[in-house]
Amino acid sequence: MTTLIIGSERASTFAQGVRDADPSFNIRTWPDVPDPKAIRYALAWGPPPGELAKLPNLQLIVSVGAGVDHLLKDPSLPGVPVVRFVDEDLTGRMVSYVAANVLYHHRRMIELREKQAARTWEYLAEPAAHELTVGIMGLGVLGQACAKALGPLGYKLAGWTRGPKEVANVKCFAGSAGLDAFLGETDILVVLLPLTPDTRGIITRKLLSKLHRPAILPGPVLINAGRGGLQSEDGIIASLDAGELYAASLDVFSTEPLPASHAVWAHKRILLTPHIAAESDPRAIARYLVAQVGRSKRGEPLPNLVDRARGY
Ligand SMILES: NC(=O)c1ccc[n+]([C@@H]2O[C@H](COP(=O)([O-])OP(=O)(O)OC[C@H]3O[C@@H](n4cnc5c(N)ncnc54)[C@H](OP(=O)(O)O)[C@@H]3O)[C@@H](O)[C@H]2O)c1
Repeated sequence: MTTLIIGSERASTFAQGVRDADPSFNIRTWPDVPDPKAIRYALAWGPPPGELAKLPNLQLIVSVGAGVDHLLKDPSLPGVPVVRFVDEDLTGRMVSYVAANVLYHHRRMIELREKQAARTWEYLAEPAAHELTVGIMGLGVLGQACAKALGPLGYKLAGWTRGPKEVANVKCFAGSAGLDAFLGETDILVVLLPLTPDTRGIITRKLLSKLHRPAILPGPVLINAGRGGLQSEDGIIASLDAGELYAASLDVFSTEPLPASHAVWAHKRILLTPHIAAESDPRAIARYLVAQVGRSKRGEPLPNLVDRARGY
């Protein structure tokens, strides 16, 4: 029984990690597939469309990422179980990215950097944490972990999900009926949604115009660490330029890598990172793959199973 690692630039690193975790594992890295019938399991990020469909005995697909949009976009994806990567290490990285960016904009660092460049010594008024509401779109594994970390810093918390949810210390809103009320209370918007047909393109200038205007910060803030396909970059820039949005941290983009000519690079009110909010650690991926394949072989339930109809 062979496992194929496919669609990732880090395939050889993952392969080594799997060998370290379990030397008995039979591993191939795509395109080195002499016998497609031997492949039972696949560890995949963005495989070329149609490649997984060439494996007639495939039993399980393990996603290298927490999101699975890159897999589900393949119309020929075999109808076998898909599990996504859920891991403490990745969750911790996302929590630190989100907390760092919430604090950065709350303390007006983006303007203070401009003042430093201009050698200007100037006091900027700042709200206290308890005067700001951080609203998190998506209260799944990552959104809830971020809420748990931000609470003790003093922020008020809100969250928006597909179905109704109860999360300690978070004012929860759900579905399209709850969206405007959620936005109307949110000063700092954190986007941790999966990219699905329902969420694609959801972050528009119109949506951003519905955010609450904080009393002391110059305007509301956007932090998107979900997926680039969720947002309109033109809408975000228009919103910033019109003063409707104060600042944005963007880790993900509709085209990655972001073309060097894109206006986002030079925008003074955007803090840009190259999809690094929460990298998957190769050793953790390897351990996760070994554990999920073990469960599959033993016929046990698979945690973090993707609901293909829902898209996440
Ligand atoms: N930038 C990075 O480095 C990086 C790293 C890892 C992950 N990510 C992104 O983060 C995303 C979230 O990860 P996760 O592990 O937290 O996912 P998750 O546990 O599946 O949670 C997804 C959350 O989004 C909500 N949601 C889904 N569709 C919705 C809709 N149409 N309307 C409202 N809410 C909706 C879900 O609502 P319910 O609770 O009602 O189901 C759930 O709360 C991933 O899909 C991935 O795209 C980015």
